[in-house]
Amino acid sequence: MAILFSGIKQLLTFAGDNAPRAGAAMRETGLVDNAAVLVNGGVIEAAGPRAAVARHPLAKKARKVEVNGICLPGFVDSHTHAVFAEPRLKDFSMRTAGASYEEIRAAGGGIVSSVGAVRRQPQAEMAAQLAARAARFLECGTTTAEVKSGYGLSLESELKMLRAVREAAKRTPLEMIPTLLAAHGVPPEFNGDAQKYLDYATEEILPRAAKEKLAVFADIFCERGYFTPEQTVAYLKAARRLGLIPKVHSEQLSNYGGTRAGAAAGAISADHADHVFAEDIAAMREAGVIATLLPASNFYLGASKYPPAREIISEGVPVALATDFNPGTCPCWNMQFVLSAACTHCAMTPEEALCAATVNGAWALGIGDRAGAIVAGRQADLAFFEADDYRELCYYFGANQNLLTVKKGKIVYRAPGRIAGR
Ligand code: NIG
Ligand code: FE
Repeated sequence: MAILFSGIKQLLTFAGDNAPRAGAAMRETGLVDNAAVLVNGGVIEAAGPRAAVARHPLAKKARKVEVNGICLPGFVDSHTHAVFAEPRLKDFSMRTAGASYEEIRAAGGGIVSSVGAVRRQPQAEMAAQLAARAARFLECGTTTAEVKSGYGLSLESELKMLRAVREAAKRTPLEMIPTLLAAHGVPPEFNGDAQKYLDYATEEILPRAAKEKLAVFADIFCERGYFTPEQTVAYLKAARRLGLIPKVHSEQLSNYGGTRAGAAAGAISADHADHVFAEDIAAMREAGVIATLLPASNFYLGASKYPPAREIISEGVPVALATDFNPGTCPCWNMQFVLSAACTHCAMTPEEALCAATVNGAWALGIGDRAGAIVAGRQADLAFFEADDYRELCYYFGANQNLLTVKKGKIVYRAPGRIAGR
């Protein structure tokens, strides 16, 4: 049944080119005041000024929802590690006592400390836990999330994580796009031999994940003490030959060359970018790589350094924003907090931040032609917030301002007691 959403004080459509937005185009929100959106059969029928949408032939018989807030495309969170068995509270205690990410790792915490519990966890339990987490994303206005493996670090456990994503996707309206992150760290049984582990991942894990269509993307953590830029290029090229689209964790803790390695291997996005230099930014622009910034992780790590968003945007590289939700560096699933961190710590404008969290996030997942914008014919993925002005979304922080989330034309979350009607 068609639904007509009205009472929209501001609608941000992000209508524009069918491509990732760069430079000044990141500030074009497609703002419509006093708007309405009509959805039917999972897609957007019409969106624009209220009076114009009301004249659509389907509007009369449609179910009416009066929102009294603002409307955006549902957030596309293009970088998460949402499958993990346990929070890392010991790491957190060490962090509050002043330890750095590397010191925590040296003391037995960090990525590899998540592996034991993940290997022990049955797939069904993992899927149930992920489906429960998916509900938290939906209630904050996220309608699509990328989900990485990367805490199994063996053929069996990495595939189990990806199968859990597939299983959980049947139980939640949140759209989840899987990424194989077998190259997240070196598991203990390889005794620090990164190349040997990477050979195993290349020969055993990549082909199986590709063959069983368990992942869309392949990702690698390129950082000193993890995997080198040379290893990154070789691994991502092998992934690409198998039909997996490359992504890379790069320049998170130091300037190490992962961004250029990702660009050389045809990565769709290079993620983190905290320590990028001019030559890394140029390589992204030339290779058409999206820079995915994850400032909530900088916040959680207590970093004084944030990604140089202004430089990246002024050089014409499209920027996406994502949570990086994970147990070690970002226990936060709320994209509204990411907006705040991007504006207050990366000097992004609210317009750029909202573009980065919606339409550019969709392009970072290769789904920009169907999601991320409120345009007739696109998937009806919407989020409504309690505000008069869209800038309030970036201004207030630490709260959930979401009123209503719509996925493929269905209301999948409604803030209790906020909106009249069924
Ligand atoms: O994006 N940098 C590597 N991966 C994650 C951290 C994962 C963890 O610490 O468990 C990140 O920050
Ligand atoms: Fe990450």
